[in-house]
Amino acid sequence: MDITFIDFLQHCSEYGELSIIEEERTVPFSIKRVYYISKVPENTRRGFHAHKTLQQVLVCVQGSCKIMLDDGKEKMDISMTQSGKGLLIDSCIWREMYDFTEDAVLLVLASAYYDESDYIRDYDTFLRRLKE
Ligand code: TYD
Repeated sequence: MDITFIDFLQHCSEYGELSIIEEERTVPFSIKRVYYISKVPENTRRGFHAHKTLQQVLVCVQGSCKIMLDDGKEKMDISMTQSGKGLLIDSCIWREMYDFTEDAVLLVLASAYYDESDYIRDYDTFLRRLKE
């Protein structure tokens, strides 16, 4: 599976780090929605879905977590440890998120507004859809 990490433009100095994300430049889509996941209890796994059309860029802006991506053929576990990089997740990729550190904040940039009908929450339905 081809994994795309996006390197953000950063200004790092003795005063701290500033990371820049611009729609349609840094991120290959127009950003319609931003949300973040935080305060995830230990041993919690989230996600368990794919999207029909949505594209997302995930950034662990603080702490760390892991993302399991599954394209129906291959599974890959990715460590999200750098706040200056974003993980691009295309549509039709099953994802699960786990191993959140106590302080982890996972920022998500999304290409569309929230739409429950864009979710595929059943794994067998996801596999069937890939064969269509
Ligand atoms: P969900 O995407 O299932 O979370 P995760 O994949 O991290 O486990 O969303 C959890 C709940 O929040 C679900 O009831 C839908 C709701 N939700 C919104 O209302 N708007 C949103 O933009 C998102 C991302 C979720």
